[in-house]
Amino acid sequence: MVAIGRCVIKLAKSALTVLLLALLVSPGVRGDGLTFPAYFIFGDSLVDVGNNNYITTVARANSLPFGIDFPSGPTGRFTNGRTVPDVLCEKLSLPFPPPYLAPTTRGAAVLQGVNYASAAAGIDRLTGYNFIGRVDFSTQISWFNNTINELNQQIGQLETQQLLKSSLFSITLGANDYVNNYILKDSPASIYTPSQFLDILITEFESQLLTLNMLGARIISITSIGPIGCIPAVLARRSQNGECSEYVNNLALDFNTELQRLLTKLTTQNSGSIFIYQDGFTSVFDYISNPQKYGFKFGSTACCGAGRFNGNVLCLPIIKPCPDRDDYVFWDCYHPSDAANVLIGNQVYDNLQRILAN
Ligand SMILES: *[C@@H]1O[C@H](CO)[C@@H](O)[C@H](O)[C@H]1NC(C)=O
Repeated sequence: MVAIGRCVIKLAKSALTVLLLALLVSPGVRGDGLTFPAYFIFGDSLVDVGNNNYITTVARANSLPFGIDFPSGPTGRFTNGRTVPDVLCEKLSLPFPPPYLAPTTRGAAVLQGVNYASAAAGIDRLTGYNFIGRVDFSTQISWFNNTINELNQQIGQLETQQLLKSSLFSITLGANDYVNNYILKDSPASIYTPSQFLDILITEFESQLLTLNMLGARIISITSIGPIGCIPAVLARRSQNGECSEYVNNLALDFNTELQRLLTKLTTQNSGSIFIYQDGFTSVFDYISNPQKYGFKFGSTACCGAGRFNGNVLCLPIIKPCPDRDDYVFWDCYHPSDAANVLIGNQVYDNLQRILAN
């Protein structure tokens, strides 16, 4: 009796889920804007929302002053407020996808997407070794594979693949492969020339993106590396008067050129899939170079930190952040402020709409 009762409840529950899903799975453009039934996020500290809270690492942001302007306070986000995907979710009317490692990210909580990002992570498995714990892209993909199993159990394999097909996927990686790997003095990667290392990264990235595609991702948005030669952490070590490191920016620009070529190739070779290139360099470089144009007062100096450009020391609980966070492009020595993320998020949204609307 009990068993039958349970079974009926379970059936009713899954019928409801299917119904809910049928309503949710309506991708594409809806009058005023884009809609996706779910959003799956991969990446580094630019988009981590708390996965690193659950691993042993130095790269962690779950205490003040991080999150000082986020409604629920510190969460593990590496900024004062919202990340770029947060801004995107607001525009897409989606909930913020929960961090994969949170114990509550189970069952129905994964139906509208999951965030797998880990601060200090990169494309290369060794990237971020200087921060001890971090989860590389390949492992993030294997976590996504676990989510697929969980979805299969809840809504069935067919519905799961339908859901994934119309869902948004975003990947924000690559900056750490240079900043927290290649350009470090003691990096094992420093034996390579820049072009050899670039080849290694692009080859690895291609195989990872194909795995994600094979698992069911179809709409994949990839952010290029930002102007890492201009971030306060790099300025503190390599700049005399605030001028960006051309050497470091060129590493990013060369990567971005190859990335764009790769994404065009992948889109051509995999019909029914789109690998969207999001330029993360050009506009952010302009915010830094011409802060006043965008309503900022400071382009190169971080709001929270210490040393030159506030770039020598990470934002820490003992450090008092600047009072007017919106005046700064950079929250800390690596990460944009909430105000900068709003500008970037709006740009990503407009780009997605332009590309997916036709
Ligand atoms: C995904 O998980 C299945 C088992 O559920 C396994 O057979 C497969 O190799 C995994 N694929 C990847 C890419 O991890």
